[in-house]
Amino acid sequence: MNDNLHQLRCFGCGARIRGDQANPIFRCVLCDDLFEVEYPGWSQLRGTDRPNAGALKWLWRERRASSELLDHSGVWRFRELLPILDSFGSAVTLREGNTPLYHLPRTAKALGVDQVYAKHQGMNPTGSFKDTGMTSALSVAKERGFEWVACASTGNTSAAMAAYAARAGMKSLVIIPDGKIAWGKLSQSMDYGAVTCQLNTDFDGCVRVLTSIVQEAPIYLLNSVNPYRLEGQKTPALEIAEYFDWSVPEHILVPGGNLANSSALGKGFREMKALGLISRLPKISIIQAVGANPLVQSLRENGGQSIVPVKASTRATAIRIGNPASWRKAAHVIHETGGWCLDVTEAEISVAKAELGREGIGCEPASAVTLAGMKKLVAGGNIAASDTVVLLLTGHTLKDADYTIDFHRGTLLKPEEAAPLLPEIEALRRDAVKVEASPDAVLRVLKEIQSRWV
Ligand code: F0G
Repeated sequence: MNDNLHQLRCFGCGARIRGDQANPIFRCVLCDDLFEVEYPGWSQLRGTDRPNAGALKWLWRERRASSELLDHSGVWRFRELLPILDSFGSAVTLREGNTPLYHLPRTAKALGVDQVYAKHQGMNPTGSFKDTGMTSALSVAKERGFEWVACASTGNTSAAMAAYAARAGMKSLVIIPDGKIAWGKLSQSMDYGAVTCQLNTDFDGCVRVLTSIVQEAPIYLLNSVNPYRLEGQKTPALEIAEYFDWSVPEHILVPGGNLANSSALGKGFREMKALGLISRLPKISIIQAVGANPLVQSLRENGGQSIVPVKASTRATAIRIGNPASWRKAAHVIHETGGWCLDVTEAEISVAKAELGREGIGCEPASAVTLAGMKKLVAGGNIAASDTVVLLLTGHTLKDADYTIDFHRGTLLKPEEAAPLLPEIEALRRDAVKVEASPDAVLRVLKEIQSRWV
């Protein structure tokens, strides 16, 4: 069966090519911009390829009770909206997606906003949102007969790629910046059997090296310049809309690094609206770290017309990216949906992460930028009390346990960084206490701590 109904359209000049005509670096030969997947059959209003909104909503719900392997995937459950494979039977899946949407009552109360939720993409098989895009793009690589796949990564893409490649019996090459990725992530690519190269450069330098390699060797590039990654990564938008019974929340807040995730979610909502699955778009806002904020600067200085790369620096290593590939797509999402793009400090990220922890929802530092950003949007009057807000949490808390431990030990931030939020930080810190092995000693600690809490 040929399920394949797609073509690629250049996001810059609009040139269209067949999927198998893309070059190894997925850049348009005419203008060097990125491609996005499009489905020509959808534009014909009564065409046979155009999905029927009502029937799909029913079908996707039915699949939740199905025993078919493909239906267990929260990505391939929605396969009518990503017909990118010659046969869906070739999909490589680890049952990704179908992640929880948690209500955050304490955050909602503290910020005076009715409904606040966290869509936890860290609850995917390898602990990050990258799994949703990896199942789609690696399945394409497999179908096209590649033996090797590769990516440059701040750690999560590589963990996901290594796992899916292992699953498919393929070989994987991981290129990461030396010393600047969290141990949890590095350990994953080792365990899944990838060839892991730590380069003495940053993420942006790793991308440059890999871009040369894939033009010389038959290795399939799985960075998010690969448009098939975004097809899987758009499915959390479908899950969110389905959760709210096909109405959409007013706001979605997403961390911004290489800017593919925000682009993918925007595409997901845009396509759902075009197909009549939803009637309006949520405002999608992108939050970056102050030290890695090229999109914030671009929108401020030239309305998102061009990007000036920055030398990135943040302890949220997942988003330590100064020259994001998908900036044009992400700027379009902000303009199209009426969302905002702003940056948050290291102290604000650390506090937001600990506050989410207090709701019983752990996450990576890069994910916590969303809550830090939400506070600013509420303070600026851009989020109203009656709005529903969804924070996209992108990674699992155990990915970067060092960060969490450093925060609670009080060694994460320099005094001048912590100073503006010192009372909040001190109230949230819970360092482990070394105690003599006796009940009395432990009870004394309890008494002492309780007296400090009141
Ligand atoms: N959050 C986490 C946990 C990430 O790992 C990343 C990106 C982002 C947010 C930003 O998403 O790049 O689509 O804007 N991590 C990449 C990696 C780049 O290599 O794992 P983005």
